Amino acid sequence: MVGMPNHSSHSPALPAVAVLGLGAMGQALAGAFLAAGHPTTVWNRSPGKGEDLVARGATRAAAPADAVRAAEVVVVCVLDYDAAQAVLDQAAGELPGRLLVNLTSDTPERAREAAAWAGALGADYLDGAVMVPVPMIGTPDALIFHSGPRAVYEKYEATLGALGGRTAHVGEDHGLAAVHDLAVLDFFWTAMHGLVHGFALAATEGVRATAVAPYMNALAALLSSVVDGTARELDAEEFPGDLDNLTVEAANVRHIVRAAERRGLDAGALRGVLTAADRSIALGHGADNWTSIVEGIRRPA
Ligand SMILES: NC(=O)c1ccc[n+]([C@@H]2O[C@H](COP(=O)([O-])OP(=O)(O)OC[C@H]3O[C@@H](n4cnc5c(N)ncnc54)[C@H](OP(=O)(O)O)[C@@H]3O)[C@@H](O)[C@H]2O)c1
Repeated sequence: MVGMPNHSSHSPALPAVAVLGLGAMGQALAGAFLAAGHPTTVWNRSPGKGEDLVARGATRAAAPADAVRAAEVVVVCVLDYDAAQAVLDQAAGELPGRLLVNLTSDTPERAREAAAWAGALGADYLDGAVMVPVPMIGTPDALIFHSGPRAVYEKYEATLGALGGRTAHVGEDHGLAAVHDLAVLDFFWTAMHGLVHGFALAATEGVRATAVAPYMNALAALLSSVVDGTARELDAEEFPGDLDNLTVEAANVRHIVRAAERRGLDAGALRGVLTAADRSIALGHGADNWTSIVEGIRRPA
């Protein structure tokens, strides 16, 4: 049973939304819909979550099907796609004719499977990926990828825009939000590993992380400046090595691996970088620039 909705602060013109899953992210999403004035129904597997949302005007549903029945746009955001499917299976009969937006993170394959499942039911489906932490949801800088039919996205762009000012449609193929998510987070986690590893390496010689941090910041700015150029080189498959070359840069990585291992640190990630660089060099890219490491990445042992 869905309780009596409190529509006092809602605009009747805005689509009603349901948010299934009230973890940290689901609560933030529901809060942003409420703040934008959408009639919002919420459901979570375990009781006790989202009390403040209800206090702000959300309606709590007793079951996923009740939440879906109350909404035009259904957002699911839970642990993974197995959990999402377990929730949606309980509401399958109510989904036809509504828009389902899956903001759970997973792989492109799982996104395409979910799209096929929703399509077979007769529901519109957009897959999505939230690219920012909880506190940024609902702010102008919050980036959320969506993929699926463009016409569906455009119809609900204003509704989805309540979740973040940098909401982006990245393609009609439902897997593409997850593809963008994986690519961006591949970069992020590799860089985050390097950040912590560099601090740990300095610490083996008694240098505190805060002493190195200003120089890490300078490097982070440099990293930001090479993103577009690297992308253009990869799209063109051209790696001019007149200013720097892979042979010299691989030697630099080898020094760090040796120094780290000598100091008892794990150097597995950098060893992987070195292996890919050496493979590219063996393939004839020693005089090309760093981006040519992609040839070694494309040919794992
Ligand atoms: N938190 C972030 O900063 C962040 C950023 C970007 C993307 N995301 C993505 O957002 C999604 C949710 O993350 P979160 O931070 O909200 O996680 P969380 O706080 O750990 O919440 C997990 C949610 O999943 C539900 N759940 C787990 N297994 C379930 C099942 N079998 N059936 C039904 N519900 C189930 C939980 O319900 P119970 O309360 O009943 O356990 C809870 O609502 C994830 O895909 C995550 O990658 C999160």
